[in-house]
Amino acid sequence: MKVLVFDNYDEASAQAAQLVEAQVLENAQSVLGLATGSTPIGLYKNLIEGVKTRGVSYKNVSTINLDEYIGLPTDHSESYHTFMAENLFNHIDIAIDNTYVPNGMAVSPEEECVRYEEIIDRVGPIDLQILGIGTNGHIGFNEPGTDPESLTHVVELVASTRESNARFFPSIDDVPTHAVTTGIKSILKSKKIILIASGASKAEAVKQLLSKEISQDFPASYLWNHDDVTLIVDQDAYSLV
Ligand code: GLP
Repeated sequence: MKVLVFDNYDEASAQAAQLVEAQVLENAQSVLGLATGSTPIGLYKNLIEGVKTRGVSYKNVSTINLDEYIGLPTDHSESYHTFMAENLFNHIDIAIDNTYVPNGMAVSPEEECVRYEEIIDRVGPIDLQILGIGTNGHIGFNEPGTDPESLTHVVELVASTRESNARFFPSIDDVPTHAVTTGIKSILKSKKIILIASGASKAEAVKQLLSKEISQDFPASYLWNHDDVTLIVDQDAYSLV
């Protein structure tokens, strides 16, 4: 794991964007694995800027998102479909048919998981996967205890994750209880992985990750089993290392 430490969130985001743009410039048909949450917003702002000012094009790029809440309609303000449209897809020249996010409204979420894993294998392999990290070490929605052999699956969100995400909803009761997430094995199929961690709230998680102890209690630790991971952190997130 390569570790890059930056003074602040803006610099970390700019560096992540540089790596994504390098990937797209190297292969115009790249497949990008994308994440939601507050962390990648700065990266996405930089990518939008890159289209407008640096002539980067996503016309032939495909994207595969990590996860989606179960039970939120695609056009719900807090669905990850809406998040991706508002924070990235609406502002770049990507073909929306080439963007994939799990369907949280599928009649059978289990069948949706099988369909989505097939997309990962058919459209992929993902060239570059972007990840954030939960304060408990979750990646995607792979909570502590997730099987390292997991493919796309249905998860029940743990209380701390629902509490963290409650800030986006009118109340904690409105936060969905379940999600579809790509699994740890699905994520590790990616050729390259970038994990971004920013802010003091992630300092414990970054410390735990860099202890190199691989454990089911800390899903991000399985990234040590991959040979091309770059951790991009800011000083606040790195402060306990
Ligand atoms: C969310 C997402 C993850 C994300 C994480 C951290 O619940 N499912 O993909 O990485 O939690 O979110 P944030 O970047 O807002 O701290």
